[in-house]
Amino acid sequence: MDYKEAFEKASKFGQEHIFQFWDELSKEERESLLKQVNEIDFDEIESLKKLTSKKEKANPDPKSISAPNSIKKEKIMKSEKSTYEQGVTTLKEGKVACLMVAGGQGSRLGFEGPKGCFPISPVENKTLFQLFAEQILANQKKYDVNLQWYMMTSVANNAQTKEFFEENNYFGLDKKQIHFFVQKMLPAINKEGKFFLKTKSEIFTNPNGTGGVYSALKENGILDHAKKNNIEFFSFVNVDNPLVEIFDPAHIGLVKERNSDYSIKVVKKTNPEEKVGLICNVNGITQVLEYSNISEELTHEKNEENDLLLNLANLNILIIKRDFIEQILKDNLLEYVVAFKKIPFISESGELFQPDSPNGYKFETFVFDVMPLTKNISIIEDLREDIFAPVKNAEGVDSPLTARLLMNRKAKKWMLKAGFDKEIVDHIDFAEISPLFALTEEDFIEKVENKIEFYENEMIAEENFYFQ
Ligand code: UTP
Repeated sequence: MDYKEAFEKASKFGQEHIFQFWDELSKEERESLLKQVNEIDFDEIESLKKLTSKKEKANPDPKSISAPNSIKKEKIMKSEKSTYEQGVTTLKEGKVACLMVAGGQGSRLGFEGPKGCFPISPVENKTLFQLFAEQILANQKKYDVNLQWYMMTSVANNAQTKEFFEENNYFGLDKKQIHFFVQKMLPAINKEGKFFLKTKSEIFTNPNGTGGVYSALKENGILDHAKKNNIEFFSFVNVDNPLVEIFDPAHIGLVKERNSDYSIKVVKKTNPEEKVGLICNVNGITQVLEYSNISEELTHEKNEENDLLLNLANLNILIIKRDFIEQILKDNLLEYVVAFKKIPFISESGELFQPDSPNGYKFETFVFDVMPLTKNISIIEDLREDIFAPVKNAEGVDSPLTARLLMNRKAKKWMLKAGFDKEIVDHIDFAEISPLFALTEEDFIEKVENKIEFYENEMIAEENFYFQ
């Protein structure tokens, strides 16, 4: 596409201002702006504009909201062993793949580079990517299977993510089993429907949200690859939760047994006021409701067991059936939502302007938006402390520090369960158990049995089990 064509295309949609600094641009900058204009689907943005004038959906009538059924993982582990065993078999048959979303901008963390490259483990400072790679390696060994790792990145971090894996020799995995694929970016618009310039030669765009994963899977040939490789289920996880159990046989078994097309792992809310999305039934249809969509009274309502009635917090830990994704894409049922956000931009005078209040609309979709379209959803409840250590903010809640403390707490919990002396465990500053040492508490207990005295006397760790 040359300048004339690009200018015409932009002008047709009232976006010609994106060329206002054209005369100042270098050859490379001009080329990259032309490429960006070529890639943008202006018609799509035109139709998305309608969303900005749509009235916010009214909150659902509290009477229509109820708590969905869920099963506790503990129950499966204790009394429904056959479900667990089905999960193990499904895993061994190679029918489950990891689907990780790592295309976010990580703006709250403020880390230069892809979030997965963030060093997080409490003793060895291993990165998020390394910990996940170790988890996949350990599962491969335990279940004697080759596991695929599909990773969604964004235009902004794809090259760096790939380089990071290359530099680290794929952390011992085979390069062929890790598949990076890029999600779509969409331009944001201001109140007048105009694009923002991020620099003089670049239109501001943002990744199209976690829900972008569905079309990205198709457009990048991942669905076909998964089908050819006999993969029935995607285990969907975020890149920013080092405690997530990517392949949980109890969860996989539940999905298999119930023939679920979509399954969600939840934890209890920490307190009624916690600002999380909640899994609810609205007129019998299971979906995520934001805390702000639920009345104060219902937020605090208790059930017969004196637990909060609406108590199932969404963590974006899912198992999604490949067939289901194919179906929703065929029917084209995903809808964008709009978010009003602060977007820095280059002003007409060529200076960077940092707004202090929201000034533009970003379009995105969420991975859970498709929940109402499922035919057979299942919900498993796990313990927060075992599976959730989000790395969202640079400091304070859900930060690297809280994640390290949670990882440390889990390692120490396993040590105590295995029979380590409490005084000694309390004395240790930080403990870290790599998935390569043990994937589960039971594996850990088995592994250290008969060696506890040695560890306690020597106070030295071995490979993949560290304390200091
Ligand atoms: P968050 O919604 O927490 O966003 O993403 P984020 O981009 O990591 O951080 P902020 O909001 O800018 O601070 C949850 C998960 O979804 C992925 C993220 O990489 C993270 O694993 N994600 C988010 C995508 O893959 N694509 C997106 O468009 C948005």
